[in-house]
Amino acid sequence: MIPQDLINEHLTVSMKRPTGKKMRDKSLRWVVHSGYKILDKIGTDEKILDIGCGWNLFKPHRPNLIGIDPIFDEADVKVAFQDFETTEKFDVILCLGVLHFGTLEDIKSLIEKLTGMIKPGGKVFWRCATESEIWYQYAWTKQMHYDFVKEFNYTIVELEDEYMFNKNFDPNFDEESMADQQPEKIARLYAQWVKN
Ligand SMILES: C[S@@+](CC[C@H](N)C(=O)[O-])C[C@H]1O[C@@H](n2cnc3c(N)ncnc32)[C@H](O)[C@@H]1O
Repeated sequence: MIPQDLINEHLTVSMKRPTGKKMRDKSLRWVVHSGYKILDKIGTDEKILDIGCGWNLFKPHRPNLIGIDPIFDEADVKVAFQDFETTEKFDVILCLGVLHFGTLEDIKSLIEKLTGMIKPGGKVFWRCATESEIWYQYAWTKQMHYDFVKEFNYTIVELEDEYMFNKNFDPNFDEESMADQQPEKIARLYAQWVKN
Protein backbone atom coordinates (compact mmCIF):
# COMPACT_ATOMS: atom_id res chain seq x y z
CA MET A 1 0.00 0.00 0.00
CA ILE A 2 1.29 3.48 -0.84
CA PRO A 3 1.67 5.34 2.50
CA GLN A 4 -1.23 7.76 2.96
CA ASP A 5 1.14 10.31 4.56
CA LEU A 6 3.00 10.72 1.27
CA ILE A 7 -0.26 11.22 -0.64
CA ASN A 8 -1.49 13.73 1.97
CA GLU A 9 1.78 15.65 1.86
CA HIS A 10 1.59 16.09 -1.90
CA LEU A 11 -2.15 16.87 -2.03
CA THR A 12 -1.87 19.41 0.78
CA VAL A 13 0.41 21.47 -1.43
CA SER A 14 -1.30 20.88 -4.76
CA MET A 15 -4.88 21.48 -3.55
CA LYS A 16 -4.31 24.50 -1.34
CA ARG A 17 -2.90 26.86 -3.94
CA PRO A 18 -4.23 30.43 -3.55
CA THR A 19 -6.94 30.10 -6.22
CA GLY A 20 -7.81 26.58 -5.06
CA LYS A 21 -11.09 26.92 -3.24
CA LYS A 22 -12.76 29.34 -5.65
CA MET A 23 -11.71 27.38 -8.72
CA ARG A 24 -12.66 24.09 -7.11
CA ASP A 25 -16.25 25.21 -6.54
CA LYS A 26 -16.41 26.44 -10.11
CA SER A 27 -14.96 23.20 -11.41
CA LEU A 28 -17.94 21.35 -9.90
CA ARG A 29 -20.14 23.56 -12.11
CA TRP A 30 -17.90 23.20 -15.16
CA VAL A 31 -17.57 19.44 -15.10
CA VAL A 32 -20.35 17.85 -17.20
CA HIS A 33 -21.26 14.69 -15.23
CA SER A 34 -19.39 14.39 -11.93
CA GLY A 35 -19.95 17.80 -10.31
CA TYR A 36 -23.09 19.45 -8.96
CA LYS A 37 -25.12 17.67 -11.71
CA ILE A 38 -25.07 14.63 -9.40
CA LEU A 39 -27.40 16.52 -7.03
CA ASP A 40 -30.21 15.97 -9.57
CA LYS A 41 -29.81 12.22 -8.95
CA ILE A 42 -29.78 12.31 -5.12
CA GLY A 43 -32.93 12.73 -3.03
CA THR A 44 -32.95 15.34 -0.29
CA ASP A 45 -33.39 12.78 2.50
CA GLU A 46 -30.87 10.21 1.28
CA LYS A 47 -27.96 9.46 3.58
CA ILE A 48 -24.70 10.28 1.81
CA LEU A 49 -21.03 9.51 2.42
CA ASP A 50 -18.62 11.76 0.47
CA ILE A 51 -15.19 10.06 0.42
CA GLY A 52 -12.38 12.56 -0.19
CA CYS A 53 -14.81 15.48 0.18
CA GLY A 54 -12.06 18.14 0.04
CA TRP A 55 -13.80 21.42 0.92
CA ASN A 56 -17.06 19.52 1.53
CA LEU A 57 -18.77 21.46 -1.25
CA PHE A 58 -21.78 19.13 -1.51
CA LYS A 59 -22.62 19.54 2.18
CA PRO A 60 -24.56 22.85 1.91
CA HIS A 61 -26.74 21.22 -0.76
CA ARG A 62 -27.35 17.97 1.14
CA PRO A 63 -26.99 18.42 4.93
CA ASN A 64 -27.65 14.68 5.36
CA LEU A 65 -24.08 14.07 4.16
CA ILE A 66 -20.92 13.03 5.97
CA GLY A 67 -17.79 14.27 4.25
CA ILE A 68 -14.51 12.57 5.12
CA ASP A 69 -11.04 13.69 4.08
CA PRO A 70 -7.59 13.25 5.65
CA ILE A 71 -6.31 16.79 5.01
CA PHE A 72 -9.27 19.19 5.00
CA ASP A 73 -10.60 20.84 8.18
CA GLU A 74 -13.89 21.37 6.30
CA ALA A 75 -14.50 17.59 6.40
CA ASP A 76 -17.01 16.30 8.95
CA VAL A 77 -14.49 13.60 9.85
CA LYS A 78 -10.81 14.29 9.11
CA VAL A 79 -9.68 10.79 8.26
CA ALA A 80 -8.58 8.65 5.32
CA PHE A 81 -11.25 6.21 4.17
CA GLN A 82 -9.18 3.15 5.12
CA ASP A 83 -9.25 4.38 8.76
CA PHE A 84 -12.92 5.46 8.78
CA GLU A 85 -15.19 3.38 11.01
CA THR A 86 -18.96 3.51 11.04
CA THR A 87 -21.92 1.22 11.63
CA GLU A 88 -24.12 3.34 9.33
CA LYS A 89 -25.26 2.23 5.89
CA PHE A 90 -25.58 4.85 3.17
CA ASP A 91 -28.00 5.42 0.27
CA VAL A 92 -25.31 7.22 -1.70
CA ILE A 93 -21.50 7.15 -1.69
CA LEU A 94 -19.53 9.78 -3.62
CA CYS A 95 -16.04 8.77 -4.83
CA LEU A 96 -15.16 11.86 -6.82
CA GLY A 97 -11.51 12.14 -7.75
CA VAL A 98 -10.36 10.00 -4.85
CA LEU A 99 -10.31 6.24 -5.38
CA HIS A 100 -7.56 6.50 -7.95
CA PHE A 101 -4.76 6.98 -5.45
CA GLY A 102 -2.57 3.99 -4.70
CA THR A 103 -2.14 0.61 -6.35
CA LEU A 104 -4.85 -1.50 -7.95
CA GLU A 105 -4.87 -3.62 -4.78
CA ASP A 106 -5.38 -0.49 -2.63
CA ILE A 107 -8.31 0.58 -4.80
CA LYS A 108 -9.83 -2.87 -4.66
CA SER A 109 -9.64 -3.06 -0.89
CA LEU A 110 -11.30 0.38 -0.58
CA ILE A 111 -14.12 -0.73 -2.90
CA GLU A 112 -14.57 -3.81 -0.73
CA LYS A 113 -14.77 -1.53 2.31
CA LEU A 114 -17.31 0.88 0.78
CA THR A 115 -19.41 -2.08 -0.36
CA GLY A 116 -19.88 -2.92 3.32
CA MET A 117 -21.35 0.58 3.87
CA ILE A 118 -23.86 0.83 1.00
CA LYS A 119 -27.51 -0.20 1.27
CA PRO A 120 -29.01 -2.58 -1.32
CA GLY A 121 -30.21 -0.31 -4.15
CA GLY A 122 -27.72 2.37 -3.02
CA LYS A 123 -25.84 4.46 -5.57
CA VAL A 124 -22.09 5.00 -5.92
CA PHE A 125 -20.93 7.93 -8.04
CA TRP A 126 -17.44 7.97 -9.51
CA ARG A 127 -14.92 10.32 -11.04
CA CYS A 128 -11.74 8.35 -11.78
CA ALA A 129 -8.51 9.35 -13.48
CA THR A 130 -7.68 7.62 -16.75
CA GLU A 131 -4.08 8.84 -16.75
CA SER A 132 -1.43 8.51 -14.08
CA GLU A 133 -0.67 12.23 -13.82
CA ILE A 134 1.13 11.81 -10.49
CA TRP A 135 3.26 8.84 -9.40
CA TYR A 136 0.69 7.66 -6.86
CA GLN A 137 -2.31 8.01 -9.19
CA TYR A 138 -3.73 4.88 -10.85
CA ALA A 139 -5.16 5.10 -14.39
CA TRP A 140 -8.64 3.55 -14.47
CA THR A 141 -10.20 1.97 -17.55
CA LYS A 142 -13.82 1.21 -18.40
CA GLN A 143 -12.91 -2.47 -18.13
CA MET A 144 -12.03 -1.95 -14.46
CA HIS A 145 -15.58 -0.73 -13.87
CA TYR A 146 -17.00 -3.82 -15.59
CA ASP A 147 -14.71 -6.10 -13.56
CA PHE A 148 -15.40 -4.44 -10.19
CA VAL A 149 -19.19 -4.39 -10.58
CA LYS A 150 -19.10 -8.08 -11.36
CA GLU A 151 -16.83 -8.86 -8.42
CA PHE A 152 -18.71 -6.70 -5.87
CA ASN A 153 -22.24 -7.23 -7.22
CA TYR A 154 -23.32 -3.86 -8.58
CA THR A 155 -25.02 -2.77 -11.83
CA ILE A 156 -23.54 0.01 -13.93
CA VAL A 157 -26.20 2.64 -14.62
CA GLU A 158 -23.88 5.17 -16.27
CA LEU A 159 -20.27 4.98 -17.50
CA GLU A 160 -19.07 7.94 -19.53
CA ASP A 161 -15.96 9.82 -20.54
CA GLU A 162 -15.93 13.04 -18.55
CA TYR A 163 -16.03 16.48 -20.19
CA MET A 164 -15.45 19.92 -18.82
CA PHE A 165 -16.10 23.55 -19.70
CA ASN A 166 -13.01 25.74 -19.27
CA LYS A 167 -10.69 22.77 -18.89
CA ASN A 168 -7.67 25.10 -18.72
CA PHE A 169 -9.13 27.04 -15.78
CA ASP A 170 -8.95 30.40 -17.55
CA PRO A 171 -9.76 32.94 -14.79
CA ASN A 172 -11.53 35.12 -17.39
CA PHE A 173 -13.87 32.32 -18.48
CA ASP A 174 -17.37 33.65 -19.03
CA GLU A 175 -19.73 31.33 -17.15
CA GLU A 176 -22.77 33.23 -18.41
CA SER A 177 -22.27 31.87 -21.91
CA MET A 178 -21.58 28.26 -20.84
CA ALA A 179 -24.73 26.95 -22.54
CA ASP A 180 -23.36 28.09 -25.92
CA GLN A 181 -19.92 26.53 -25.43
CA GLN A 182 -18.61 23.03 -26.13
CA PRO A 183 -17.09 21.17 -23.18
CA GLU A 184 -13.79 19.35 -23.79
CA LYS A 185 -12.92 15.77 -22.88
CA ILE A 186 -10.74 15.36 -19.78
CA ALA A 187 -8.74 12.36 -18.52
CA ARG A 188 -11.52 11.20 -16.21
CA LEU A 189 -14.34 8.65 -16.27
CA TYR A 190 -17.72 9.25 -14.70
CA ALA A 191 -19.84 6.35 -13.50
CA GLN A 192 -22.87 5.53 -11.42
CA TRP A 193 -23.19 2.04 -9.94
CA VAL A 194 -26.23 0.67 -8.14
CA LYS A 195 -25.85 -2.05 -5.48
CA ASN A 196 -27.75 -5.23 -6.29
C1 LIG B 1 -8.89 15.60 -6.23
S1 LIG B 1 -9.55 15.84 -4.65
C2 LIG B 1 -11.27 15.68 -4.93
C3 LIG B 1 -12.10 16.51 -4.00
C4 LIG B 1 -13.62 16.44 -4.22
N1 LIG B 1 -14.12 15.08 -4.07
C5 LIG B 1 -14.02 17.00 -5.55
O1 LIG B 1 -14.57 16.29 -6.38
O2 LIG B 1 -13.80 18.20 -5.76
C6 LIG B 1 -9.10 14.36 -3.80
C7 LIG B 1 -9.38 14.40 -2.31
O3 LIG B 1 -9.27 13.07 -1.80
C8 LIG B 1 -8.65 13.11 -0.54
N2 LIG B 1 -8.06 11.78 -0.26
C9 LIG B 1 -6.90 11.26 -0.70
N3 LIG B 1 -6.73 10.01 -0.26
C10 LIG B 1 -7.84 9.72 0.48
C11 LIG B 1 -8.26 8.58 1.22
N4 LIG B 1 -7.51 7.48 1.29
N5 LIG B 1 -9.45 8.62 1.87
C12 LIG B 1 -10.23 9.73 1.80
N6 LIG B 1 -9.88 10.85 1.11
C13 LIG B 1 -8.69 10.84 0.47
C14 LIG B 1 -7.65 14.22 -0.67
O4 LIG B 1 -7.25 14.73 0.59
C15 LIG B 1 -8.39 15.24 -1.52
O5 LIG B 1 -9.10 16.18 -0.76
